[in-house]
Amino acid sequence: MQQRVIGGVAVSAIGLGGMPMSIEGRPDRARSIAAIHAALDSGVTFIDTADAYNMLANETGHNESLIAEALRSYGSSTDHVLVATKGGLIRPGDGSWRRDGHPDYLKEAAKASARRLGVEAIGLYQFHRADPTVAYTDSIGALAELLDEGVIRMAGVSNAEIAMIAAANEVLGGRLVSVQNQFSPRFATTYQELRYTVDNGMAFLPWSPLGGISSAGALGARHAVFGEVATAHGVSPQQVALAWELSLSDAVVPIPGASRPESITDSAKAADLSLSADELAALDASVGVTR
Ligand SMILES: NC(=O)c1ccc[n+]([C@@H]2O[C@H](COP(=O)([O-])OP(=O)(O)OC[C@H]3O[C@@H](n4cnc5c(N)ncnc54)[C@H](OP(=O)(O)O)[C@@H]3O)[C@@H](O)[C@H]2O)c1
Repeated sequence: MQQRVIGGVAVSAIGLGGMPMSIEGRPDRARSIAAIHAALDSGVTFIDTADAYNMLANETGHNESLIAEALRSYGSSTDHVLVATKGGLIRPGDGSWRRDGHPDYLKEAAKASARRLGVEAIGLYQFHRADPTVAYTDSIGALAELLDEGVIRMAGVSNAEIAMIAAANEVLGGRLVSVQNQFSPRFATTYQELRYTVDNGMAFLPWSPLGGISSAGALGARHAVFGEVATAHGVSPQQVALAWELSLSDAVVPIPGASRPESITDSAKAADLSLSADELAALDASVGVTR
C-alpha cells in the first residue's frame, strides 16, 4: 500500500480504527480478530486504539488487549506495525466518557497501556481530550516526561484546536508528531486544523473519517457527490471519501473504523484510487473545503 510518514515512521496511507470492536454494538472477539487480520492482509500498518475503548465496567483497555492479541496471533511478523493509543478519557461502564488529564493519572495510564499492548515503549501516545479541570500544558507535560523516560516513542494530541496544537508542540519542545481530530465529508469544519497541522510538519489523522459508526453506511446517500463519483469509478462511496481525504495532503492518514473484515478490506483500497482534479474540486465544493 501507498506509504505515509508519522514522526519519521513509515505507515500505510490508510490506518485502522479499533473503536467499533470494543464499544456498544461490538462484535464477538473472533470477528474483531478477523477484522484486524484482514487489515494486515491489506497492507495496513497503522492501528489506532485508546485505553477508553471499552464498554463494560472494569474492562479498561479492551481494545488494546484485542489488538495485542491479533498482532500476536497473525501468521507473520507484525514488528513494522505502528500502534497508536490514547489516554485521558475513561469509560466507567455506564455509557459515559469521563476526562482525566491529571499528569500523574496520564503517566500511570500510559504504563498500563504499554503493559496491555505488550510493548516496552508505546509507538505513538496521544492525549485523548482536554480536561477542563487541568491546565492543558500540565497534561501535555506528562507526555513530555513519558517521552523523556522512554515509556512512549512519539507523542500526539487529539481533539485539539490550533492554539492547543501550538501549545502542545511548545511544551513538547517541537516533538509533537500528530493531531487526531474529527474530519470527514460530514464534519469538514476542522479543515483549518488539518491545514495548520500539515503546514507545521505534523501528521493529521482524521477520526470518524466516514462520518462515524452509525453514519458511515449512508455516506453515499448523505453526500450525493461522493456517491456519484463512486458510481463513476465502480467503488464504494467510503473509498471515495478516504481517497479525497488522502488527496488533501501527503501528511493525512485516515483511520476508518471496522468491526467486519470486509469493511477494512474495502477501505484499504482507497489508497489506490485516483480522483481527477475535476472530481476533487466537486467533492471539495460539496463539503465547503477550499484548498
Ligand atoms: N480521538 C477521538 O476522540 C476519536 C473519536 C472517535 C473515533 N476515533 C478513532 O477513529 C476511528 C474511526 O472512527 P469511527 O470508527 O468512529 O467512525 P468511521 O471510521 O467514520 O466509521 C466506522 C464504521 O464504518 C464502517 N465502514 C468502514 N469501512 C467501510 C467501508 N469501506 N464501507 C462501508 N462501511 C465501512 C464500519 O462498519 P463495520 O463496523 O460494519 O465494519 C465502521 O463501523 C475509531 O475507530 C477510533 O480509532 C477517535
